[in-house]
Amino acid sequence: MARKLFALLLPAIAGALFASAAARAQDLPRLERQGNRYSLIVDGQPYFELGAQVNNSSGWPDQMAKLWPPAAAMHVNTLEVPVYWQQMEPREAAFDFSAVDGILAQARRHHVRLILLWFGSWKNGKSHYVPDWVKDDPQRFPRVYTRQGQPIDVLSPNAPANLAADAKAFAALMGHLKQTDGAQHTVILVQVENESGILGSVRDFSPRAQKLIDAAVPAAIVSALHTKNGTWRQVFGDDADEAFAAYSIASYVDQVAGAGKRELPLPMYANNWLKSPRGFPIATVPGVDYPSGGPTSNMLDMWKAAAPHIDILSPDIYVPNTGRYVQVMRSFHRPDNPLFIPETDGFGGFPNSEGYARNLFLAIGEGAIGFSPFGLDHLSLTRGKGGAPDYEAEGMAENYRLLGSFSGILAKLQFAGKIQTAVEEPGLSQRELRLGRWNALVSFPPSYDPPPPSLSPEQSLHMGRVLIAPLAPDEFLVAGIDCRVQFRLPPPSPGKQTQLLRVEEGHYDGGEWKFDRLWNGDETDHGLNFGSPGTVLHVKLGTY
Ligand code: DGJ
Repeated sequence: MARKLFALLLPAIAGALFASAAARAQDLPRLERQGNRYSLIVDGQPYFELGAQVNNSSGWPDQMAKLWPPAAAMHVNTLEVPVYWQQMEPREAAFDFSAVDGILAQARRHHVRLILLWFGSWKNGKSHYVPDWVKDDPQRFPRVYTRQGQPIDVLSPNAPANLAADAKAFAALMGHLKQTDGAQHTVILVQVENESGILGSVRDFSPRAQKLIDAAVPAAIVSALHTKNGTWRQVFGDDADEAFAAYSIASYVDQVAGAGKRELPLPMYANNWLKSPRGFPIATVPGVDYPSGGPTSNMLDMWKAAAPHIDILSPDIYVPNTGRYVQVMRSFHRPDNPLFIPETDGFGGFPNSEGYARNLFLAIGEGAIGFSPFGLDHLSLTRGKGGAPDYEAEGMAENYRLLGSFSGILAKLQFAGKIQTAVEEPGLSQRELRLGRWNALVSFPPSYDPPPPSLSPEQSLHMGRVLIAPLAPDEFLVAGIDCRVQFRLPPPSPGKQTQLLRVEEGHYDGGEWKFDRLWNGDETDHGLNFGSPGTVLHVKLGTY
């Protein structure tokens, strides 16, 4: 009887399973746009990447196995991991997906999403990750030639055989992901190449490339960039070599991405070695100081025109100060380009990294949809036996612990354009945020009574930070670390005094606010004092 019933129901069960697998497959991670704001949608919901990128040689299952403890200590929700063309296609057309399969399985066990980085034709302006059979056959897979006629260790972007081989391998990877992850969505985003561009020459000077640069600029580029018609030299003058390199590389990367998307249309991005990390634009030389032809700030329009399959052009931000950090974010954040930061000052003592934990809040304030410090392998939350804690790494972990507790809400508020942030900088002790009828005066560090004799080690890194978002009229979510927030009515507000009606400390559980306790007295009388570890508050304001 039971068997009969099962046989009767089998088609319906299979249909339902098939329908839900199909629905999940349709619900692939994607980018959505509302006005000028973007969000990465994962499993139907806005998603904010609280990420870390592993070291360059860690995209191997055995190596990755060592990185889950630091990933957990960091509270990441996403890891960025390379996939090497060299490893994946050791012999032409013989693909080995064991590394990517091993990494997927580990990520799922640890409930962490992945962003895969395709180390194909370009990696930091060089071609060191191409398979040996490509490296060994420069006749078939031509290199860039310098102005002096020397071949270098970079594949030519003007050689169709190079493009065809890379596109075929990348399509194989995406086809494999379709089989293994099409319904599960462990991989939410894919980076195509890594800091593409040419180091060692401004462009390819081979006879083949020379013929192309002497020809007319393609009509689609003339029309998209609103330039005149003519050869590359006539149209771009002194910038012709770099513009030609950018066009050549962007259209190559576009075709690689397109071949991958035909298999599995995940959102894709290209990351960028900045043209002038320190902000001296005139002093930098393409092909010498930075890879020529990558999606640098001066080539964004070219890349947008030539690489429509690339959804995001992303800056890798390793810069020395907050002002420059903001400048870089603003040059990449445009109505046609979401702000996504796939690499930034990270673990292990990069020279610029002092106080980098503040940068996440800066990025959120600028509308970022994801953020990922580089070099998880270097993470040590304590520096050696009995050594001083690594306060910067702890600060970053503290960010992720705090924001990770409500990352879904954070992503939704971000998509709605509701979040404002304030961060501390050396020499900057106060900032004021305008929040509709209210202002929030944010002070760094938080005030104490009596004042402390000296700053704590964390405070001396000037990493105070806060995020504020309206939840309802006169009600705010405030998540802060090492700062003080005072809400007030901006002048003139004659006869009106501000009062805190209710300040709830709490946490989110499955997207629901859970109240833990009320703040009052010393916790509120002189402003809301946030220490470290940080706190999430719901604040209700009133007047009398
Ligand atoms: C930027 C590159 O994109 C990364 O792969 C890595 O090389 C970092 N620089 C830092 O070393």
